[in-house]
Amino acid sequence: MKSLFDPVSFGPLRLKNRIVRSATMAGATLAEKGAIWAELAAGGSGLVITGMMGVIENSCVGERMTQGYRPGVLEAHKPFFEAVQRHGAKIAVQLGHCGLKANFLDGGQRPLGPSVVRLPNQEAPLAMRHEQIAQVVAAFAKTARSCKEAGADAVQLHAAHGYLLSQFLSPFFNHRLDEYGGNIDNRGRIVLEIVEAIRGQVGPDYPVLIKVNYSDLAEPSITFEECASLCSQLAKHGLTAVELSAGLGNDALTSPIRRVKKPGEEGYFAEPALDLADMLSIPVISVGGYRDIEAMEKRLNQGQIEAFAMSRPLICEPALAARWQSGDRVRARCVSCNRCFSPKGAFGCKYPFPA
Ligand SMILES: Cc1cc2nc3c(=O)[nH]c(=O)nc-3n(C[C@H](O)[C@H](O)[C@H](O)COP(=O)(O)O)c2cc1C
Repeated sequence: MKSLFDPVSFGPLRLKNRIVRSATMAGATLAEKGAIWAELAAGGSGLVITGMMGVIENSCVGERMTQGYRPGVLEAHKPFFEAVQRHGAKIAVQLGHCGLKANFLDGGQRPLGPSVVRLPNQEAPLAMRHEQIAQVVAAFAKTARSCKEAGADAVQLHAAHGYLLSQFLSPFFNHRLDEYGGNIDNRGRIVLEIVEAIRGQVGPDYPVLIKVNYSDLAEPSITFEECASLCSQLAKHGLTAVELSAGLGNDALTSPIRRVKKPGEEGYFAEPALDLADMLSIPVISVGGYRDIEAMEKRLNQGQIEAFAMSRPLICEPALAARWQSGDRVRARCVSCNRCFSPKGAFGCKYPFPA
């Protein structure tokens, strides 16, 4: 029987257990975020993934999203990464670009996207020219290098939830007629270029993860088969692990952050994660609605999922992993009130920690 507390390796990234804190933007200062990461590490999570960090001007959803491209920003993270590592946990930085959902336009007046698709309450984006795509690819690689130099254990590309890379992957947003649009090889080209460019900056052994949608929960959508084909291509080009999610996050119906009220609603993206794990040569992390250790260990022993990521339960109880490991296997206290996901970015919780 496999346990959530088995040590596990994602290529060169060795984790003390299979519990991952899924990327969670806190809209907080660096010191506040550092305190949250340290608390999660002390609380037993094996891998802490930061909230999405912007890689270039015009990539951030708001001013409070970390601008990882600004000089000295990653260097300033070093002591906070070290604090996580002192607790025996690892830290990965999630790198992202909000594309047509960017609202902090520090590099120009209009957000960028693969095509001109306008969402309600959003400015019409500019369809990216080839040189703008190349700039974004280089920016991901440069910021990944800064993460490595600042002592982060890994980076994770945010290619899910309707942000720029997910916009390219999704036929909902990508209507391009050039080599970056059309079939999945084309829609995924920017992601492959980024993985290759990052490898060029960080070398062959540095862990590079991705979070990607198997479905956009919208029409039209990326398909599971397209997602699997992209992931196996990326694995051949040195990707280390995949976290599988879904949803463009345009509205309640396409949200990846669903309410979990009853035990049967848990692990709402587990089935495709089990299927993907059967097909890929690299580890798959499943995310979405995990609340109960019994349900997670059941999924673990059903197939090849290597790790389970949680966001909201660890906002509510940062020491959840340690609690479960101590033998108190009562389900997570999170009731999906979703106050932690207010549009204003407030990091609230009905049960604010420390409890
Ligand atoms: C406050 C908050 C912020 C989030 N920020 C991010 C983010 O920066 N990047 C990301 O990939 N997902 C983000 N998510 C989504 C979570 O990582 C996760 O995929 C989702 O909440 C489902 O998992 P859960 O049921 O364990 O919360 C966020 C979720 C919440 C609640």
